[in-house]
Amino acid sequence: MNLAIIGTGYVGLTTGTCFAEVGHNVVCIDNNEVKVESLRQGKMPIYEPDLEEMIVTNVSAGRLTFSTDLAAAVRDCEIIFIAVPTPPHDDGSVDLSYIEGVTREIASILTPEMGYRVVVDKSTVPVSTGAKVYKVIERYSHRGVDVDVVSNPEFLREGSAVADLLHPDRIVIGSDSQRAMDLMKRVYQPFNAPIVEVDLASAELIKHAANSFLALKISYINAVSAVCEKAGADVELVAMGIGMDKRISRHFLNAGLGYGGSCFPKDVKGFINVAEQLGAPMEILKEVERVNEAQLERFVGRVRKKLWVLRNKRIAVWGIAFKQNTDDVRESVAVKLIKRLCDEGAIVTAYDPKAAETGAAALQGYSVTICDDMYDCVQDAEVLIVATEWKQFAMANLVKVRERMRLPIIFDGRNIIHGENAVHAGIEYHSIGRKNLYPNK
Ligand SMILES: NC(=O)c1ccc[n+]([C@@H]2O[C@H](COP(=O)([O-])OP(=O)(O)OC[C@H]3O[C@@H](n4cnc5c(N)ncnc54)[C@H](O)[C@@H]3O)[C@@H](O)[C@H]2O)c1
Repeated sequence: MNLAIIGTGYVGLTTGTCFAEVGHNVVCIDNNEVKVESLRQGKMPIYEPDLEEMIVTNVSAGRLTFSTDLAAAVRDCEIIFIAVPTPPHDDGSVDLSYIEGVTREIASILTPEMGYRVVVDKSTVPVSTGAKVYKVIERYSHRGVDVDVVSNPEFLREGSAVADLLHPDRIVIGSDSQRAMDLMKRVYQPFNAPIVEVDLASAELIKHAANSFLALKISYINAVSAVCEKAGADVELVAMGIGMDKRISRHFLNAGLGYGGSCFPKDVKGFINVAEQLGAPMEILKEVERVNEAQLERFVGRVRKKLWVLRNKRIAVWGIAFKQNTDDVRESVAVKLIKRLCDEGAIVTAYDPKAAETGAAALQGYSVTICDDMYDCVQDAEVLIVATEWKQFAMANLVKVRERMRLPIIFDGRNIIHGENAVHAGIEYHSIGRKNLYPNK
């Protein structure tokens, strides 16, 4: 099938590539000419495991192309996916101007002679956006165009997007048209995954409700971690004990510095906002946000208490990306933490295996030194903070770390370092929701 993807970002590029991988002909459209040109030259705009190889294969096979020509894509493709940003406004509502803009462009290109078209919203949007998209198409296109609008929310996780797309838990398709539904099922037939067929509004709600629930789970275990610290219990053991209950599951019960990234913060805010507008407020999600903010504050407070004052203290931070296996630093808690430490006058060094460049851009104006090597990063540091759960941090040579540090103290904000190993290496070890560990003097 011929598919167009409008918006070649984390979602559009990976989705488009995986559609090509299963045999569709895909054109990825973006209005950023530099991005399209560099993709054509084989340069990756983002880091995502296995993506580059898959792009190369599918471009060579002629199934995947990149273009800025939206008109040609709409003419040539029966199914047009929209994967543009939906950032938050200051009041938490979702900025739908990208969606509206692209929809108007598509509408102005459509003609009755082109035949049937399905416009699919893959971006995360508040419930009833699809109905508005349909209205915009009606308003701005020629009389007699034959179009349906579908919601097909995306559940990929950055860092494992390719695997998530090729082997999804489920595919949600929301449509009020059987014809569009049948066509969409053909798109996804090669994926051999369960398809959840629902109406347009329910599909939109599924995405906001799913992300908000995951954020809720994270805030829940973080709130439990605070109790564990006071009670002398171990949050990892508590998470294991409750996570083995199938009704709960162990996923997303990792205590840490809180959730971040380009999705959870904005989707929780978006869901709170839309629910309020509909007159069915989701007060529970306000508490989820409050716990999330408090978690970072509590952590910084513990580091401050340890060092007495942060001004002029040398603090090394491992991790800038919002999670492992990505270069994405949007709404990264690690970035927030670094800014916070800089604001308090600490001398901060930071290291990330993939997010050095994006991190430097996000931290512009802050006097942080971004290092090329994780051990150089800890040189003369008085505290090392682990802010992102990269595997290589968990596997670090802790003796080397201790030798380089001025004071051997680790604050593990992701509970990934083996505490006993740290202590054996002569390092004082603090983590989330667990007892502090001290080496024998
Ligand atoms: N990133 C994720 O993990 C993820 C997961 C699921 C859903 N989503 C949702 O998917 C949507 C896209 O997210 P993303 O992370 O891929 O964003 P992104 O910022 O990485 O990519 C968006 C792309 O759209 C392009 N664009 C903007 N306006 C355009 C226009 N008028 N015409 C053509 N291209 C245009 C931008 O240049 C950019 O390349 C959002 O709604 C997001 O919430 C994201």
